[in-house]
Amino acid sequence: MRISVHFTPLGVPDADIGGKPVVVVDILRATTTIVAALANGARAVVPAGATDEAIRIAQNLKDDVLLAGERKGERISGFALGNSPLEMTRETVAGKTLVMSTTNGTLAIQAAASGNPVFIGSATNFSAAVERARDAFAAAGEIVVLCAGRERGFALEDAYAAGRFAHALIPEGMRRRLQLNDAAVAALELVKRYGERWKRAISASAAARELGAKGFKEDVRAATASDCYDLVPVYANRQVTVR
Ligand code: MLT
Repeated sequence: MRISVHFTPLGVPDADIGGKPVVVVDILRATTTIVAALANGARAVVPAGATDEAIRIAQNLKDDVLLAGERKGERISGFALGNSPLEMTRETVAGKTLVMSTTNGTLAIQAAASGNPVFIGSATNFSAAVERARDAFAAAGEIVVLCAGRERGFALEDAYAAGRFAHALIPEGMRRRLQLNDAAVAALELVKRYGERWKRAISASAAARELGAKGFKEDVRAATASDCYDLVPVYANRQVTVR
């Protein structure tokens, strides 16, 4: 059995993902926000790359659509919503399809398109996502944890989350017989460093500091709250839904 972690989707060959179970994480904040949106009744979230792409997708959808997303952490001008889990209230998102474009997170989800299945993971749905991922891992004999990362590089909060997933997925007594890539080994070291303290690990990240400085401290806090939801969004056919 093999667990592979990638700290950013950049340069990950499709062969490393194609047909394999994948968990995508962007703790600050895209996957946390997507989980909140679907938990509060959004019909689907459609990840988009560029802003133009999001607008085009929204124009072609027949659903009741809301544009969501950020650049440099702030809501994209003209979009209804930013990328805050706290904006995803039932009043705002229930029954709506969100077309979302974020700097790293939605690109990571798109990069996982050839995976099967592709789960959306966060601290807020951690245990539920581990359960679903465990079944897929057992069936496939391998699993990939794909971090969105930050500015095309390493992000501590995502790497720690990848370590938490890897740690939770390693079957009892199997560690020695398991194949881990180097990033998985490093991610597991972060779990040794921070233990199960989501808050400590996430708060130590540069993204948390930057979001705090921009007035999004409560978003960081929301992202550290583990197991608020037991739903596991799945990305398939270009949209994230809860099946
Ligand atoms: C991203 O996709 O890069 C992040 O979710 C950025 C953010 O914090 O909004």
